[in-house]
Amino acid sequence: MAVSKSLQAYRGDLLDFVDDPFYVSPEESLRYIPDGLLIIENGVVKELGTYENLKDKYIDIPVTSYPGMLIMPGFVDTHIHFPQTEIIASYGEQLLEWLEKYTFPTEAKFQDKIYARKVAGIFLDELLRNGTTTALVLAAVYPESVDAFFEEAQARNLRMIAGKVMMDRNAPDFLLDTAESSYVQSKDLIERWHNKGRLLYAVTPRFAITSTNEQLHLTGKLLEEFSDVYLHTHLSENIDEVEWVKQLFPDCRDYLDVYDKFGLVRERSIFAHGVQLSDDEFKRMSEANATIAFCPTSNFFLGSGLFKIEKAKSLDTPIKVGLATDVGGGTSFSMLQTASEAYKVAQLQRQKLSPFQALFLATLGGARALSLENKIGNFDVGKEADFIVVDSQATPIMAFRNPEATAKSLDELGDKLFSLIIMGDDRAIRATYVGGVIANG
Ligand code: GUN
Ligand code: ZN
Repeated sequence: MAVSKSLQAYRGDLLDFVDDPFYVSPEESLRYIPDGLLIIENGVVKELGTYENLKDKYIDIPVTSYPGMLIMPGFVDTHIHFPQTEIIASYGEQLLEWLEKYTFPTEAKFQDKIYARKVAGIFLDELLRNGTTTALVLAAVYPESVDAFFEEAQARNLRMIAGKVMMDRNAPDFLLDTAESSYVQSKDLIERWHNKGRLLYAVTPRFAITSTNEQLHLTGKLLEEFSDVYLHTHLSENIDEVEWVKQLFPDCRDYLDVYDKFGLVRERSIFAHGVQLSDDEFKRMSEANATIAFCPTSNFFLGSGLFKIEKAKSLDTPIKVGLATDVGGGTSFSMLQTASEAYKVAQLQRQKLSPFQALFLATLGGARALSLENKIGNFDVGKEADFIVVDSQATPIMAFRNPEATAKSLDELGDKLFSLIIMGDDRAIRATYVGGVIANG
């Protein structure tokens, strides 16, 4: 059989999701093919099945084998700040003081395009080392920082969403734009970067506190003019923040209503945190089909609180939820570590987050949260081949906890995945492939 050189085959224990394990059983939501074969053609998934069934059909293709390892879709991080890479693990403050003391002075450095490119490179390489292949990213207020980020993402052929932070009040002068300049600069960036290859643009007002009515109005105008761009911001993270928002917008019913008044609450709108949301706000988020980025390590680290994951995923007010690191408020680039903290958030509320649910949030759930489920998130035929090779025996103690390399039943798989989430991190990511090409490993 004549086969194109662009065909590649990967052998290992294939694992992905085809449905949401918060709403259907593991059997119905999970696709697990022990000793499977994943066939990639021109950067997209061509076929998958057991090695036994496919080996003859693809006999002429060299097979890259990862015996006893999981092959999974790349992780999706639904909220992260690239200019905050260098302030990860900054001591002692909660949100508003942390912004003043660490974040704002650091983000000022990102006017320098050369510096911004250097950090963007470090940031993207760190994501790839951790198995994250897609992220929704805040740059800084300077358009140069967005160009720097997209140039580095483009050089790595990554599917990334990013945007210029818009902020025209309540921050140091050196970080402020104006309503008008933020509109003009965002529009220019959308025209230059949105849908350029695998890159997408998110209109990014930082949060209600740092935007005037005029800036939020122009944000809504951008969403009207470019209906398929994203809206990305923070929402209801910290008690002092919520109180300040009440004072700044006395006519609004609640925090979400500030954004709603300007037409910012809709599909393809991603709100980070949502820790302090009221029942009415949950209802409105659900009705609008908007997304919450659940940031457990950040919500712990900045002392913000416990996100109500069970309520967000309830059938009463189902909300699209993605998992997110929120570096540098978050403490790890690893989505495994982030999933581990998400489990503990549930525990502290006497709830359970199963390993299947946690890994769904990190993969197909994240893709759905970003309305990218037709492109990434699992191994459906035709999807972009961003995938990772995961070693559940990566450290001596993980190997001791996981003596069998390959799980033989759903119960065994659940146990293996749970220990992987709780004990695993970048050391468990053996390789990361982007568009069918190895990017790390
Ligand atoms: N709210 C407004 N800006 C930020 C930020 O940079 N990080 C976090 N965690 N919350 C914010
Ligand atoms: Zn954030």
